[in-house]
Amino acid sequence: RRCILIGAPVDSGKRRTGCLMGPDAYRTAGLAEALSDLGHVVEDLGNLTPAEHGPEPDGTHLHQPNRTIGWTNRLIRAAEQAMPRGLPIFLGGDHALALGSVAGVANHAARMGRPQFVLWLDAHSDYHTPETSTSGNLHGTPLGYVTGRSGFAGFPVITNPVKQENICIIGLRSVDRPEREALQQTKIRFHDMRQIDETGIARPLAAFLDTVAAANGMLHVSLDVDFLDPSIAPAVGTTVPGGATIREGHLVMEMICDSGLMTSLDLVELNPFLDERGRTAQLMVDLAASALGRRVFDRPTQSYS
Ligand code: ARG
Ligand code: MN
Ligand code: MN
Ligand code: MN
Repeated sequence: RRCILIGAPVDSGKRRTGCLMGPDAYRTAGLAEALSDLGHVVEDLGNLTPAEHGPEPDGTHLHQPNRTIGWTNRLIRAAEQAMPRGLPIFLGGDHALALGSVAGVANHAARMGRPQFVLWLDAHSDYHTPETSTSGNLHGTPLGYVTGRSGFAGFPVITNPVKQENICIIGLRSVDRPEREALQQTKIRFHDMRQIDETGIARPLAAFLDTVAAANGMLHVSLDVDFLDPSIAPAVGTTVPGGATIREGHLVMEMICDSGLMTSLDLVELNPFLDERGRTAQLMVDLAASALGRRVFDRPTQSYS
């Protein structure tokens, strides 16, 4: 396949900075080499910059809304342009980048006459709107935006909302009350860590992938670093204990690969400033490689020199 790496150093989705270094950390950890070793053609578009946007307004609880609007405009275009040519991998950047990546891929799916599905791997549900968010951090809003919730004044109008029943969230363990109340009224499938502990991670994922396949859907996977347990993935600003293990992470990615359904991927919320000797960046690269065909026995021997 042709993998198109799109650097999206979005850092406006929350107050703590550092995610802008994410794309280069993935490059340093060898993402392009890992994918080309698997036989893929890899094209790196470098890092994007936000589209032109207004100055930030005063008197709002929102953090840098206009910069995020600029990024959303830019990323919608980038996603629409990349989709006909290959499999875009959005190198974040914080999760606000998914306002653009998901909206853009959904536009492409609509053009193809195919339904868009989204697998959201995250400790959080990111289903706020700018109006319901108390933190004012827009990285908590992408699923609200792409499903067409109201309250996103100034953002590009969502022309092809992702259907609630086409979304599956796995990994939840930190959901604000207004978000939970809103989520429970939707058809979004969500699986918290309690349920993963009880049923295992494979069962709900397999059920979702079957639905995507039966509908001939396009599948966007959005992988937030905080899906993983902070003991193995410390480089994130929103750590929540009790996340997925390395094996669960790889299993999810390998099942995605086996399904042959993934058409686009976000790697988000990596904050290299908080990393330990690059281990989180490396794990995210390894997970991306699993989603694109690497198997346990193919893992390259590490040198520790
Ligand atoms: N629910 C919290 C908020 O709205 C946290 C969101 C975390 N989102 C993320 N993409 N890490 O601020
Ligand atoms: Mn998130
Ligand atoms: Mn999260
Ligand atoms: Mn929230």
